[in-house]
Amino acid sequence: MKRLILLVTGIILLIPVSFISTFNGIPTTWDIDAIKRFHLPPSDSTVKVIYAPKAYYDSLPDHVIYKTFPVYVREYERPGYLDSLRNLEPEMVFQPENLKTTQDWIKAGEQVFHWPVAYRPVNNKVSHLSVDDFKASNGKISSAGEYAFSRYVVTEKGKVLMGTLSCSGCHTRILDSGEMIPGAQGNVFNNTGFVAAVKSGQIPFAVLQAGSRELNHAPWANIKAAPESAGEFADYIRAAPPGTMDRQGGGYLYPFAVPSLIGIKDIKYLDWTGLMKHNGPGDMMRYAAFNQGMDMLTSYDGFIPGGKNDNTELPRPAEWKHPFGYVGKKYTDAQLYALTQYIYSLEPPKNPNHFPEELIKKGRILFAKTGCVSCHTPPLYTNNKLTPANGFEPPKDHFKKYDIFNVSVETDSVSALYTRRGTGYYKIPSLRGVWYRSSFFHNGTLTTLEEVLDERRLHSSFVPSGFKPPHLKTMAVKGHPFGLELSEDDKKALIAFMKTL
Ligand code: HEC
Ligand code: HEC
Repeated sequence: MKRLILLVTGIILLIPVSFISTFNGIPTTWDIDAIKRFHLPPSDSTVKVIYAPKAYYDSLPDHVIYKTFPVYVREYERPGYLDSLRNLEPEMVFQPENLKTTQDWIKAGEQVFHWPVAYRPVNNKVSHLSVDDFKASNGKISSAGEYAFSRYVVTEKGKVLMGTLSCSGCHTRILDSGEMIPGAQGNVFNNTGFVAAVKSGQIPFAVLQAGSRELNHAPWANIKAAPESAGEFADYIRAAPPGTMDRQGGGYLYPFAVPSLIGIKDIKYLDWTGLMKHNGPGDMMRYAAFNQGMDMLTSYDGFIPGGKNDNTELPRPAEWKHPFGYVGKKYTDAQLYALTQYIYSLEPPKNPNHFPEELIKKGRILFAKTGCVSCHTPPLYTNNKLTPANGFEPPKDHFKKYDIFNVSVETDSVSALYTRRGTGYYKIPSLRGVWYRSSFFHNGTLTTLEEVLDERRLHSSFVPSGFKPPHLKTMAVKGHPFGLELSEDDKKALIAFMKTL
């Protein structure tokens, strides 16, 4: 009888919960079954991956999202700007009960996109970069002088904080015209301050080394996870061109080009390695949750990057601190849903390129004739499939589970094989919007389409214009041999065509 009562109460309690989640249409982010479906396994199939339990996720504190404000370089900041922020009452801007229309959700999602997850007090020296600081760096400011990597945050009257590591900090692009494009391949980060702090010892080397290990170590992969000196680390950070950055779970000395989020709604796999499937808003919500912290609480063969006791145990939810120094919080499902609606609504900038019609037509024909279309298939300019990295043999069951185009393009395989983000695959990237990107291939080694089609890059004497490990003077950029044999005129036409996409 007691059991029956428990069962009945259980059912009654369960009904409203499931009813609410389907009734308001917001998927549940931390749904372990959905996560298992969405997350691809590591390239080494013996590695055991365990996600943080649902009860753990649910007990993490929530982000409370306040209105944030742009940061300007010194010459562009209007007098009294910071003081005016100090006089403001904090304004909570995310209130799901007020969101009625799709447009409301998109606007609220924009606030989530801008919401920084790391904060520090405003310090005049660091907070007030000048135009000259950008001349020496690879970060960019908009024509209005805005530095989009950071945002001012007011959570208490009179107290202005400098916030970083919002989605927008890494996913905002400044075009040559100075126009700011949210969601495009990010190129704003000014790394000179960070490099100086590393070099001067302001950030203790032991902290950097331990942090780098947490960000990069994959217990099953025998590759270096941390620098041996502060100078080495500073040189690495400086070597990443605009549009390419280190990302947790990648390898040390193996950064990634930042993908464009514009048009992502149609893309079936997320990350260069196709680490996560994308079948709708729930998956985008999971992607954001993992990448803003939860991947640091995942166990990889017993190694929990953000874990305590030598990375073996989950920290208590309220005590968790991300290695970047911020207190671990989670976004609510409503915040993630809004964020997803915003990302799905992003539009490409107006294309300023004008090429003669004949040239574009010739390029389009070459694009088909050279076989580009079999992988970069219109209208998305990707067939939305995964290709095996050099040396990876897809297990038989993968052909049923995933969309695999079983031809390797033979680019550098380390990111796909020996990192926590590695799945054994590289996805076929979409070429839509390739004109407003400047970091090409998964690791951003090339910066122009001319270089992508340059046969000389296959040789060890080549000097890539994009990322190369700082200890190398020259480096071959192997793989993706398509179109290299075309004549210079044909290449011009092919590039002109690609720049219209
Ligand atoms: C510190 C910089 C940084 C921050 C902060 C950041 N991203 Fe990213 N993002 C990247 C990089 C680098 C990649 C490429 C990683 C890879 O391919 O493995 C990426 C990849 C992605 C992708 C995959 C796109 C594709 O085509 O494969 C999505 C989606 C995404 N980010 C969304 C977000 C959202 C949403 C947020 C905020 C919740 C966010 N990112 C915060 C740097 C960042
Ligand atoms: C067999 C499939 C395949 C074919 C054929 C192919 N590509 Fe690719 N392409 C890829 C993959 C996979 C990548 C990503 C490789 C990496 O990052 O390691 C890529 C990357 C690119 C990129 C860089 C995009 C970016 O954002 O970094 C360009 C440009 C490109 N391909 C153009 C072409 C052109 C032009 C052709 C024909 C001459 C072509 N591709 C043929 C699979 C293919």
